[in-house]
Amino acid sequence: MYLDLSADRGKLYCHTQQTFNMSEFNSNLQTAKQLAIKAAAQAYAPYSRFKVGAVLTLKNGDTISGCNVENVSYGLSNCAERTALFSAVAQGVDLTEIAQVTIYTPSNEVYSPCGACRQVMAEFLSAETPVISTSNGGEQHWTVSSLLPHAFHFDIENYRAD
Ligand code: THU
Repeated sequence: MYLDLSADRGKLYCHTQQTFNMSEFNSNLQTAKQLAIKAAAQAYAPYSRFKVGAVLTLKNGDTISGCNVENVSYGLSNCAERTALFSAVAQGVDLTEIAQVTIYTPSNEVYSPCGACRQVMAEFLSAETPVISTSNGGEQHWTVSSLLPHAFHFDIENYRAD
């Protein structure tokens, strides 16, 4: 069982209706962080040498990992967060099952996800999904919508070109 920490009107709740357990949350976060550290080790980052890992934790506890993949044409580089999300799509994962995103950067500072990754999170994850960035020095917690308020959403079904 994985605790879903989606914020609902400012409250934390859990889909299984069990009592929220902070120590279980912390141990799940430590597990996700360890997997993100492992994912970071797979990064292809010869240009920045900044190896990032990201882990998506599903409600059933399964995880999907991603790392950054750079290119000599720098703009083609892909961040760890997007690699994990695109991998989830490629694996046919039910994206509504994603309960949390955990990021690891090899630094003392805690880094927040780039703008491109925030927009991709807004595409695939609910606004309340927790996004936690961890580092060697600390961690910071957000939600998808706190990272990117007013994300671009487009209702293609109801759009009519003039
Ligand atoms: N990077 C990520 O993978 N995730 C982030 O949240 C920020 C930046 C990558 C992109 C690039 O490969 C390297 O870190 C330096 O910017």
